[in-house]
Amino acid sequence: MKSFVIGDKLAENLAQQLDLDFILIEDRIFSDGEVLPRLAKEEKIDKAILIFQKKQEENINAYLIKYFLLLRKIKEFTREIICIMPYLSYARQDYIFQEGEPLSVLYIAELIEKNADVFITCNMHEHRKKIEDLFKIPAYNVFLFQDLAEKFEDFSSSNSIVIGPDKESKAFVDDFCKKFPAEKIIFEKTRDVKTGKISFLFDKSYDFTGKDVIIVDDIVSTGRTILQTAEIAKGLKAKTISFAFIHSIFGDKAVEELSKINPKKIVFTNTLENFQFSVDITKELAKCILENKLI
Ligand code: R5P
Repeated sequence: MKSFVIGDKLAENLAQQLDLDFILIEDRIFSDGEVLPRLAKEEKIDKAILIFQKKQEENINAYLIKYFLLLRKIKEFTREIICIMPYLSYARQDYIFQEGEPLSVLYIAELIEKNADVFITCNMHEHRKKIEDLFKIPAYNVFLFQDLAEKFEDFSSSNSIVIGPDKESKAFVDDFCKKFPAEKIIFEKTRDVKTGKISFLFDKSYDFTGKDVIIVDDIVSTGRTILQTAEIAKGLKAKTISFAFIHSIFGDKAVEELSKINPKKIVFTNTLENFQFSVDITKELAKCILENKLI
């Protein structure tokens, strides 16, 4: 029995790196929004690695349903399944902020581990729950900030400041600075849970004159967090602004939004579909699979 990587172009890349066979997934969407995924072929499998991106125009819930349908289908003819969800959605709902809300990320994890034997994701939004708090099966959170940092080789680290917009981003900044040892500054962000409005606390005496500022975060969704951070850095006289982040929730649209302030560089990954990524995640995923002897 063979082992296969099943999915989209990420799966094809990963299969090449792991020297495994690849099975393509096709899908149809009906007019009412129902999804019908289909495996290009079906045969008895020893180990299957399931991985595909959320497409740019796809709703995140449609992506999740597609993932669960495929996982359940693959289970029927596979001995062991390694699930890779490059972006674990609902991870920001890792706490009951207001009475009556679901602990969404835990419930998603419970659904995954019904049929999966191993789970891998990239830079899960581990603000209040760690990956091991969610999964009972072996679960790995692959950190990619050092891969982002490698794209700043043309910057001088002694003339740069790396900023994290909130206290949770300290871990991201620390990881980034292992490869790019620059001065680190962490702001404090507060978000009104009812209106979603954000504001920042920082030392008003900072002076970034002549400095290249790199703003590092895990997720860019509306772009508000890193754009507001950039405005503050500009106000503190930064020479240039750059952005480095992992998940571009709206794909290439984030680049359009962030480009409006004319940044020196924008670096991000392909955990979600986009055509302007600078870091291909399959290299680190292959490393994680091999180092942990998962195949
Ligand atoms: C929040 O805690 C995250 O780390 C990101 O800062 C946040 O999700 C980004 O969202 P947005 O781009 O909508 O400000």
